[in-house]
Amino acid sequence: MALLASIILRQGLRLGRGVQARSAMMVAQSRYLHDDKVTLPPLPVPPLEDTLNRYLKTVKPLVTDEEFQLTEQIVKKFVAPEGIGSKLQKKLLERAKSTDNWLSEWWLNAAYLDYRGPVVVWSSPGLVFPLQEFKSLDDQLNFAAKVIAATIDYKAMVDEKTLPLDRMGKDILDMSQYFKILGACRIPGVTRDRIHFYGHEPNTPKHIVVAHNNHFFKIDVYGKEGKPLNVKQLVYQLRNVVERSTHPTVPIGILTSQNRNVWGKAYKQLRKDKTNRASIEEIQRCIFLIAIDGPDVNPTGNIMTDAALNCVHGKGPHGYAGNRWYDKTIQFIVGKKGAVGLTYEHTPAEGPPVANLMDHIMDVVTSGRDGSENDMNDTKPPAVELSRPQRLMFNICAEVKQDTEDAKVALESLVGDLEMTCFKFSGFGKNFIKSQKLSPDSFIQMAIQLAFYRIHGEPGAHYESASTRKFFLGRTETIRSCSIESVAFAKAMLDEDCPITEKTRTLRAAIEAHKQYVKVAVNAHGVDRHLLGLKLAAIEAGMDVPTLFMDVGYLRSSHMRISTSQVPARCDAFMCFGPVVPDGYGCCYNPRGDSIFFGTSAFNSSPETDSATFREALEQSLLDMQDVLLKEGVKAKL
Ligand code: COA
Repeated sequence: MALLASIILRQGLRLGRGVQARSAMMVAQSRYLHDDKVTLPPLPVPPLEDTLNRYLKTVKPLVTDEEFQLTEQIVKKFVAPEGIGSKLQKKLLERAKSTDNWLSEWWLNAAYLDYRGPVVVWSSPGLVFPLQEFKSLDDQLNFAAKVIAATIDYKAMVDEKTLPLDRMGKDILDMSQYFKILGACRIPGVTRDRIHFYGHEPNTPKHIVVAHNNHFFKIDVYGKEGKPLNVKQLVYQLRNVVERSTHPTVPIGILTSQNRNVWGKAYKQLRKDKTNRASIEEIQRCIFLIAIDGPDVNPTGNIMTDAALNCVHGKGPHGYAGNRWYDKTIQFIVGKKGAVGLTYEHTPAEGPPVANLMDHIMDVVTSGRDGSENDMNDTKPPAVELSRPQRLMFNICAEVKQDTEDAKVALESLVGDLEMTCFKFSGFGKNFIKSQKLSPDSFIQMAIQLAFYRIHGEPGAHYESASTRKFFLGRTETIRSCSIESVAFAKAMLDEDCPITEKTRTLRAAIEAHKQYVKVAVNAHGVDRHLLGLKLAAIEAGMDVPTLFMDVGYLRSSHMRISTSQVPARCDAFMCFGPVVPDGYGCCYNPRGDSIFFGTSAFNSSPETDSATFREALEQSLLDMQDVLLKEGVKAKL
């Protein structure tokens, strides 16, 4: 994910097989452009000097004057005509000529498939749908059936290419991620994972998998003549699943929450058995997985936070983590009382296509449309004969049993460490910010910077994802939100003696500086992907990693203490994820007209960070920013 970028920048990267080659997968991907007539520009390689000048600007607020002087010297050497940077730049330009997207495959491996930590918490986000209220099992299954029906409906739009093209201003965006979220699965390996797109095969999957009490069932979702089952039929099938899995079984799915090397080894063991192999393949091949959960466990007292934690880690081995298959790209979660959401494995896509799918589901749910003329509330068995949901069997040998016990222990510790605070900020939303002629996203980003400064008395390196989908197979670039201007703004806001005019001046300047970085990033001229490319080019050529990447300026500016992302939705939903560094925060938001939904996180093991304190500081910062703008407005009228 976007989330992983900061980890990648901090860690040495290992390059694997086939990096140089224009891979078969990339050639296949080009067929999945949304509209074959649309040709998108290739991802550019920015000029070296531009990137390094920009880099220096982002390092400045995070280091001492002496440290900065050293960084400047290192950069100077790096960009010199005979310097290592210039040589690496040539390599990147050559790579750009011979590939569809010079970063694509590197990114896929470096950000995801080579990442060996658990996908749970560290990589896979949760997406919490608007909260529902279920009074009975019927309500729960009815909602789950609507989620399934709506997703199949969405899949038809994707397959038939009738989804409207996404745009950024006038620019059409690359739609390839939409074709990669349904029917996809990450497959564990001992040193590197892979991703498989079953939906791209000639014999495309026609089934989903339902998880209940740690049991997995295969349900065909297309009936005779390929017609999708309607809601009533799906409810009937779901009830069958629930009735046949009344007691929890061995939580085999929890293996997928493990460190990837550990899971890779356990996977080999698990697959030795023929029955297990067949069951795993049905799970991997399915269009998506849907988990029917029981009542919430260990409630925190905040239902938004509980829903978020359940999406991110299933509340661990004592919750529903065994009722999941975390490798599956899309995994819906329908709780007993009305907490609904999903978790998605991040390798194939960013949040927006997934949030779009959720918006479609919520449209279908609220409109009552189910693709049939039947009464959705009629739960009598349907007229057509349905194939019985197939239980996916597992033979659990002693080694596998031990692997699940180990996975429980590992996950328990991760679950104990992550804490979240999710909330709706009701003070104002995009409408107020736009009325001030300011960018809502930049405004919120600066509120986050201010919140951090308020708590820690210093600025924090700050990651925001920007989409580079203007370019063919584009994914993301980092917006480095901490700037010289954001620090001046935070200082002014927290200085009681600072006049209002100075506060608003620095506020506008900080927002403008952020907006400028957004422009740079969405045009693929940011610092981080380019530097990553240079580093990988060095590693690939068997060269030493340049000093630039060992320098304190680099290390501090890429130790992203604040990892953020805007994932907008048309409904009251929010995405959430863990921090990317042990002493950091995660913060994802959905700005609505008159409110903003936030999912924030931190680790208990860090004495410095606490998500509830962060929430308080963030709300205060938003209100203070509104206050100074309103006061300035009143003053201007006088
Ligand atoms: N005055 C008035 N209105 C303004 C304004 C100003 N100065 N600046 C912006 N606006 C308006 C915009 O026109 C837009 O209007 P709309 O709601 O009618 O479309 C709205 O405010 C939002 O713009 P803004 O808040 O500036 O942000 P954005 O929508 O351009 O988003 C990014 C910025 C960086 C989030 C976006 O470009 C992006 O890259 N998103 C993808 C991120 C991603 O992939 N996340 C997932 C990672 S898993």
